[in-house]
Parts: sequence; C-alpha cells; structure tokens
Amino acid sequence: PKSPVVLGIESSCDETGAGLVRDGVLLGQAVASSMDEHARYGGVVPEIAARAHVHAMAPVVREALDRAGLTLRDVGAVAVTTGPGLSGALQVGVAAAKGYAFSLGVPLYGVHHLAGHVAAAGLAGGPLPNPCVVLIVSGGHTSLLLVRDLARDPIVHLGDTLDDAAGECFDKTARILGLPYPGGPAIDRAARDGDPGAVRLPRPLTGPGDAPYAFSFSGLKTAAARWVEGHRAAGVEPRVPDAAASLQEAIADTLTRKAVRACTDHGIRTLVVVGGVAANSRIRALTEQRCAAAGITLRVPPLPLCTDNGAMVAAIGDLLARAGAEPAPLDVSIDPSAPL
Ligand code: KG4
Ligand code: ZN
Repeated sequence: PKSPVVLGIESSCDETGAGLVRDGVLLGQAVASSMDEHARYGGVVPEIAARAHVHAMAPVVREALDRAGLTLRDVGAVAVTTGPGLSGALQVGVAAAKGYAFSLGVPLYGVHHLAGHVAAAGLAGGPLPNPCVVLIVSGGHTSLLLVRDLARDPIVHLGDTLDDAAGECFDKTARILGLPYPGGPAIDRAARDGDPGAVRLPRPLTGPGDAPYAFSFSGLKTAAARWVEGHRAAGVEPRVPDAAASLQEAIADTLTRKAVRACTDHGIRTLVVVGGVAANSRIRALTEQRCAAAGITLRVPPLPLCTDNGAMVAAIGDLLARAGAEPAPLDVSIDPSAPL
C-alpha cells in the first residue's frame, strides 16, 4: 500500500505553517508569519500570535495544497505540533488539525516541535543517516542532540543551554546595540563591517572542567552590554559593527567547537544544523571549516526548512505514519511546556 500524504500543521510561536509530505518527499508548503506585528514590542506577544494563527490557518493550508497540486481529499494523515510553545498559539493549530483529521476520517499525530526541526533536515538531500548529531539553534532552543531513529527512539539530549538560547542572545544584544528586531539577521549584516577581535568576549563553558556539550549565553549579552555602557560613560560612541562581529564570533566559535566535539566524542560522522540561527553566515562558514577539518559530513537544510514551518511537522508525521506509530486520540491536548 502507498504511504499517505501527510498534512503537517505548525503554530507553536509566530509562524503559521502547513506542509505536505509523502515518503520523505516535500510536496508543497506555505508559511505566514506574524513577526512584523510583534516587532514594535521587541518580542513575540502571545495573544497577537494566537489571533494571527486564527486568521492565517485556513488560507495557509489551502496555499500549501495548491502548491502541491492537491486537495484536502488527498490528505491521508494529519500531524500537528502539540508542544512546546505558546499555549494559545498551539491551541489554534491543534484545533485545526483535529478538525481536518476528524472530517477527513484520517489519523492524527501529535508531534514534538523539536522532532519536527530534526525531521525537516531529511527533506533535503535524502533521509538522515542513523545516528547523527544535531545542533538545533533558534530563538527558543540551543541543544546538541543525538538522533538514532526519529520515528522509534527518543531523541537524546547531549547538552542544552543553561540560560538563553543562541537566537535570544543575538536578539537581546541587538536591542542593546540599537539594532532592529529580529536581532540575528541585523547582527549578521552589521558584523560585515566589524572586527571580530575588537571586543574580548568569553567562550562560555569551554573550560576543561565544564560540561562539554552544554551552553550558556546570558553572560555574553551582559558582557556586550558592559562594553557599550563603558564606552558611553567615557563619552565615546561604541562601534556597533565591532560589537556585532565580536558577539557573532563568540557564539559561532562556542557552538561549532562543541558540535564538532560531540561528533568526534561519539564517533559520529554526520552533523546536522537546524533552526533559524543556522542562517548566520559566520556560523555556517566556521561549521563548514571545522567539520571539513574533522572529516565530518555537514548537513544544513535550505533556510525555509531551518525555521519554523509546516513541512517539518509533516516530515515527522510521515516518518511516524510509515513506522506504524500509534496515532493520537482526537481529544489530544496541547503540551505547551513539553520538555525541550
Ligand atoms: O527557528 P526560528 O525562526 O524560530 C524559533 O525561534 O523557533 O529562529 C529565530 C531566531 C531568532 O532569534 C533570529 O534572530 C535568529 O533565529 N536568526 C539569526 C539569523 N537569522 C535568524 N541569528 C543569527 N544570524 C542570522 N542570520
Ligand atoms: Zn522552532
């Protein structure tokens, strides 16, 4: 029997996403973002995000179907992010998914947001090799994961951030430097004209006695803030590009060093990098360089598959459906604080 076309729905934060996947092949996807509506608040406002999902959900599903050349009748299973995420936002996606699954009479899969991010990497360049190490870096997560079989085995967390996520560090520091939100792309741009050695910033948790795969980024933001304040107190305008380049270098150095070490320590030949921060030009360049030097194959999916989207949810749903996993009951609940 042919595997089903899986409709994936994502609404855990500010992106409303729908995607269609069958047998590891992405058939079509669409995303709407409420990012612009949050910009003047400097961060995602949960109530605004939830309302935006209500408006965007049906049109986004329709657009994904149109792009795939399919109709709702072709959908053979539905997958939806149940957590972690903002509860009002998750609720909208889960309610929609239940409606589609019930009305079409097809199975429903409730999935973990993180499993979706990992599965998305298998939509470009063939299935993920088992096992692999995954570095997930976004505004919400910074973790090093050991992935064996996504559909059958739990994801092993080798290490996580103890405080801020890497994207959060980019965003908060950008704010301190007077750069626009979201801060990651702004810092990436500003850093082009900066000297990465201008500000001496720490490489947190890289000492001999430190947890080898754990991260900590809140100190970097504080160090950058002190540097700015020091300049202003002395009546000197801080050079924003220098601060941006130095921060970017500190984050890139820390992330890539630990990711490569996780691979070599565990004898794993493939590193996968996913999440919005994977867009960063310096992180990409340094990971490529260090992986090549260590003989590790690097996989970074195209950017639309790195950030939050519906295709990633469809991708994990497709793996679950093909593995014969137990579907979720139609009264499945959201799990906003699901462990990362
Ligand atoms: O995966 P994503 O779209 O959403 C979640 O957080 O789940 O990631 C968004 C994060 C933001 O913190 C944003 O500043 C960061 O990714 N980001 C970047 C770049 N592009 C996006 N950070 C550094 N450099 C970039 N070029
Ligand atoms: Zn995400």
